[in-house]
Amino acid sequence: MREDRFAGKAAFITGAAQGIGFQTALDMAKEGARVAISDVDGEALKEAGETLKKQGAAFLALECDVSDRRQVEEAVQKTVNAFGRLDILINNAGILKNFPIEETTDELLEKTIGINVMGALYAIRAVTPIMKKQKYGRIINVSSICGKMGDHSTTYVYGASKGALLSVTRSVAYQLGPFGVTCNSIAPHAVMTKLMAYWDEGRKKDAADKIPVRRLGTVEDMSHLMMFLASDEAGFINGENVNINGGYYMD
Ligand SMILES: NC(=O)c1ccc[n+]([C@@H]2O[C@H](COP(=O)([O-])OP(=O)(O)OC[C@H]3O[C@@H](n4cnc5c(N)ncnc54)[C@H](O)[C@@H]3O)[C@@H](O)[C@H]2O)c1
Repeated sequence: MREDRFAGKAAFITGAAQGIGFQTALDMAKEGARVAISDVDGEALKEAGETLKKQGAAFLALECDVSDRRQVEEAVQKTVNAFGRLDILINNAGILKNFPIEETTDELLEKTIGINVMGALYAIRAVTPIMKKQKYGRIINVSSICGKMGDHSTTYVYGASKGALLSVTRSVAYQLGPFGVTCNSIAPHAVMTKLMAYWDEGRKKDAADKIPVRRLGTVEDMSHLMMFLASDEAGFINGENVNINGGYYMD
């Protein structure tokens, strides 16, 4: 750990009240970033803020539903107002529901695309003029192994939403690269957060047995990768997706 890796940098992370997003906020703050954690879950956000406060982090907690364009734009603006800049955007907010294809309602289709895809599109559009002006930015989209392999057990729209983020990542990488802004994605697998609460012990063991490194992923594994992609050192990595799954799926 380098205490100053993100000194002077400001980050905006969606879905950061818990799980992967929160761990990344916590770790980035430890390495000097000022972090805006945003989430639709106000209660969880409050708790997350208390933990960051105890750690002495410079942070902002913003209640924000990423599927609402105005809320996203307001949250981005509040971040810039508070920190004077915005260097890192992590599109991490996401939902995953378990339904067979024929039982997936229109509402769930729209909600999943609204949060997992539209949320990222709104946030990217909101930060673009800021990052272009700064001639610096790091955008990271949290995709999923399901965006690559398809989704064999949850709602079929989840894989679709995560696949869309891979394409978004490349478009943004092409278009913002000339302005010093990179955009990459990560494709996690098997991290036991609230999102994955539907996995019972048997499924966890089965999954770990199939992963070459013989364990499940951790929120720290994800955070370490995102911090690297968000750092100055990763400036020549652009439009890339990094699989992070212990070798379960390789391409
Ligand atoms: N856990 C895994 O194994 C795994 C694997 C692949 C991809 N992912 C992705 O990682 C990301 C983080 O998930 P996690 O595993 O940490 O789960 P999590 O449930 O712990 O965190 C997701 C967060 O997103 C927030 N959120 C949900 N809807 C929102 C909305 N409309 N606006 C703002 N925030 C909203 C939730 O309140 C929650 O705090 C998600 O995009 C998920 O799809 C996770």
